[in-house]
Amino acid sequence: MIKMKVARLQRGMSTIEATIAVAVGAIGMVFAIVLLVQYATTSYAARDASGESAMSHEAISARLKPVGEISMYDPNAPQPVAAAMPVAASTGAAAGDKGEATFKGVCTGCHSAGVLGSPKFGDKAAWAPRIAQGMDALYEHAIKGKNSMPAKGGNPALADDDVKAAVQYMVKAAK
Ligand code: HEC
Repeated sequence: MIKMKVARLQRGMSTIEATIAVAVGAIGMVFAIVLLVQYATTSYAARDASGESAMSHEAISARLKPVGEISMYDPNAPQPVAAAMPVAASTGAAAGDKGEATFKGVCTGCHSAGVLGSPKFGDKAAWAPRIAQGMDALYEHAIKGKNSMPAKGGNPALADDDVKAAVQYMVKAAK
């Protein structure tokens, strides 16, 4: 009788012990996790970010910058457009230079190699029948386009006079 009681008591004790062991283990793990998280966050927050270019004030404010900015029109402000287009502002006196500059900036893309069947620069045979149409026709085709020849060589920002100067430059080279 006593033996059985002891055995039951022992079994009971071991169950309680196991429960305590599990509880202690669980609490220990929670503590360990809390400590790890604390260590990770404090060391991350305390790290020195000044050496990182991506974390500099300039880089951060650049990232936070709004996508667009509204600028109020100020008629008295210096106009960048006029300064950016000195060619359009100059007069006919420099037509030769303008023509060469326009040709080299825009027209050469096709006319130097004869791309898309365009009359090649300096190719007299290719230009003769075109020149025979008269300069006004050439101007019109250059400004408004003709078949694969895009209007103003594909650059609508060009002034008519610049296109005409470029035509003159090309015609002169093919005569
Ligand atoms: C994308 C290619 C391309 C560019 C860039 C280009 N041209 Fe042309 N051009 C052509 C082609 C193609 C023709 C031939 C069109 C045709 O007669 O069918 C042509 C023809 C011409 C002709 C002859 C038109 C006629 O009546 O026979 C003139 C003049 C001319 N281009 C001027 C210019 C000038 C000036 C520029 C630069 C401002 C320029 N082109 C840029 C492709 C181009």
